[in-house]
Amino acid sequence: MNYVIGIDSSTTATKAQLVDESGDVAAVASSEYSYETPQPLWSEQEPELWWNAATASVSAVLAESGVPGSAVKAIGLTGQMHGLVLLDDRGEVLRPSILWNDQRTAAECDEMRQRIGRQRLIRITGNDALTGFTAPKILWVRNNEPEVFRRVAHVLLPKDYVRYRLTDQYAVDRAGGAGTILFDLARRTWSQEILAGLDLDPAFFPPTFEGHETTGLVTANAAEATGLAPGTPVVAGAGDQGANGVAVGAIDPGVVGLSLGTSGVVFTATSRPAVEPEGRLHAFCHGVPDRWHFMGVMLSAAGSFRWFRDALAPGEDFGTLATAAGTVAAGSDGLLFLPYLTGERTPHPDPLARGGFVGLTVRHKRDHLTRAVLEGVAFGLRDSFELIRNAGSADLAEVRVSGGGTRSPEWRQILADVLDAEVRTVATAEGAAQGAALLAAVGAGWFADAATASAEWLRLDSPTTPGPDSAVYEKLYSDYSALYPALKDTMHSLSASAGP
Ligand code: XUL
Repeated sequence: MNYVIGIDSSTTATKAQLVDESGDVAAVASSEYSYETPQPLWSEQEPELWWNAATASVSAVLAESGVPGSAVKAIGLTGQMHGLVLLDDRGEVLRPSILWNDQRTAAECDEMRQRIGRQRLIRITGNDALTGFTAPKILWVRNNEPEVFRRVAHVLLPKDYVRYRLTDQYAVDRAGGAGTILFDLARRTWSQEILAGLDLDPAFFPPTFEGHETTGLVTANAAEATGLAPGTPVVAGAGDQGANGVAVGAIDPGVVGLSLGTSGVVFTATSRPAVEPEGRLHAFCHGVPDRWHFMGVMLSAAGSFRWFRDALAPGEDFGTLATAAGTVAAGSDGLLFLPYLTGERTPHPDPLARGGFVGLTVRHKRDHLTRAVLEGVAFGLRDSFELIRNAGSADLAEVRVSGGGTRSPEWRQILADVLDAEVRTVATAEGAAQGAALLAAVGAGWFADAATASAEWLRLDSPTTPGPDSAVYEKLYSDYSALYPALKDTMHSLSASAGP
């Protein structure tokens, strides 16, 4: 039997997933680490952690499964997007990586808009400047750590640092590269106009590759550290969202990948480099050629449910709470929940947005509040659907959900009703790592393309279809939509009085 491995360097762990030719997971291992917040708004991690965890996890899956390194035919990489890795001309790390969830770059986002022009930035890169993206992080280092910036020779993303240690090659996948917002979205590579406008040296930036393309071969040193065979091809892979999109088969327009973890991500492919005119949706290159994708990111999705459980129902399990919420009628008896517990990204890019219950009366019991939370998250996700529809992807026929939140049948029904779409659960444990493995399988020549591979490998549970409650939610959604604009100033004032 032949195998591929997907390696996912996330914010909290690097996982290795060993997958056989039929898409079954033969072994999975995860090595954890933490990230540092040395100052308010900062979030950093040492690249060495990813490499050490990658070698530990790859060695572990080989040892656990008894599969020899020589049976692994290709490696695919994925990981947290947008993180900034700076190397000098000898390939040495210059400072800890500044991560996607770091918020220090508000001034540099303004600097980007000033230098390029906001509309031009959105037109070329598909996106407005957000603090999470890579480009403003580079400007921050230039503005604040000139002695570090002077020594920069290479700019990489987290996954591409693992690639560099595996293969000695500098390279970036196009899905992840677009998340720097230094890409020309249509041309799928670095934008010379943006680099020139920001006065950044094009030599910093590595060659770009489609997800299945080979970027290098495992070196003798890396083989020794991991147990892989020297010369094993390493394909480009994709950022974690792009790789998850591949894994759930959101490759052709019309299929939506909805990941319901702490955050909620709505992902759908486009067959052209479509852009939401105000940059309210992320628009990046897809992990497969000739495809792009829209993405809406809600910061507290299942995270809202967890907050609710921890704050108001400690010790209860999620399933029991959701089942009880299922006994309450749709609309929670006139109660709405706003899920902006950690600010928001889509559709309101506002770190100071705040959550709330609106419509409370003495008749409401805990189950009403639970249901309102599940519904509020679904309404917030619907915002991304509406933006995607308005930007030209009208037919969002099937929603493929993954992540912890989707275990509840009550929540799945609420999602189907609020989104007015068929919802199917994807039965794959680690989506991004599976997507990276799938791209490796295409690179190894097992399949003609990712769509064929995904059709073979994907396991979908039976669908949840929209029911009569859809009509109730249609009306409530317009009440929900009116709340953020009405409450925005109050949210900002409250967040100021609460301190940092
Ligand atoms: C995507 C994003 C996050 C990170 C988390 O835009 O910021 O999904 O990739 O790993």
